[in-house]
Amino acid sequence: MALNGLLDIQISVPNPQELFEFWLQHGMNATADGVLGTPDRPVQMNLAEAPYRHLSSMHLSCENESDIAAIAKRLTDAGVTSTFDSTTLRCVDPIFGHAIVIDVGSPHPLTPTQSRAFNGPGQQNRIDTRADAVLHTESPIVRRIGHVVLGTPHLVEATDFYLNVLGYRVSDQIMKGFATFMRVESDHHNLMIQPGPTSYLNHYAVEVDDIDAVGLAGTSALKDERVSSIIGVGRHNLGANVFWYLRDPSGNMFEFFSDMDQIIDEKGWDRDHCRLDWEGEDGPAGFSVWGPKDPPEEFFAPSDIPAIVAGRQASGLK
Ligand SMILES: [Fe+2]
Repeated sequence: MALNGLLDIQISVPNPQELFEFWLQHGMNATADGVLGTPDRPVQMNLAEAPYRHLSSMHLSCENESDIAAIAKRLTDAGVTSTFDSTTLRCVDPIFGHAIVIDVGSPHPLTPTQSRAFNGPGQQNRIDTRADAVLHTESPIVRRIGHVVLGTPHLVEATDFYLNVLGYRVSDQIMKGFATFMRVESDHHNLMIQPGPTSYLNHYAVEVDDIDAVGLAGTSALKDERVSSIIGVGRHNLGANVFWYLRDPSGNMFEFFSDMDQIIDEKGWDRDHCRLDWEGEDGPAGFSVWGPKDPPEEFFAPSDIPAIVAGRQASGLK
């Protein structure tokens, strides 16, 4: 194994202070000005200023120094310039244009979720009190940034870069290989590359404790009139995570999620579960097991795409 963690991301928007303050009110902590963290991980999302919204940095970890050398060689072979020493590698994504930083290390372990007590037929786990979710008064704590999804018209090039050059591992592919779920951790996906009208950040995903936390977090976020719901609540097929997608005050789609498939036995997953030919809108390749069946048009083609195209052109990006 080489890559082993998504450490943090940087998102650039025209008004980063607005987004910073939003997340302070909805489950994240201020580590420094423009730096958001969680109780376990002080740095999860950096916010910077730019004329248009986009992912501007992806910070990964890898197991050891030989991984850095191997990735650097693959970058050179692919014609991508990088700088590196024994513990850190830096390059620029050749399709999207964001910075990529890879450090030897690993993500800080997460404190396990304290399970809520659920009642069921023949199971009285919560007696003589109301449910924890009912008694909840604050926005749930955010646990970490779990993944990002990127849309692009340059699918083959982008997918090849992440799988074969950087070394992400494929978990599933749909749409005849056009959309790829890939991971660097045990999560079913830390990154997905899918079709898009331009190269852009489709969404960033914020992990919370459980299905109640997804519902509570989304409900709390919607009290901010700048936030809108896009689709949710439901449970995805591939990855199996509970989801609720919303639009943040800066126009980025984000996802509150919980309960994603975890892949520890990689050979077993490849042998028994991974498929590169999922098709169709029903069954395992469909958007949801339960909940809304089909995402709206804005899920794939947000209304601010022209501004992103103009911003990329002004920055010399294709
Ligand atoms: Fe997601």
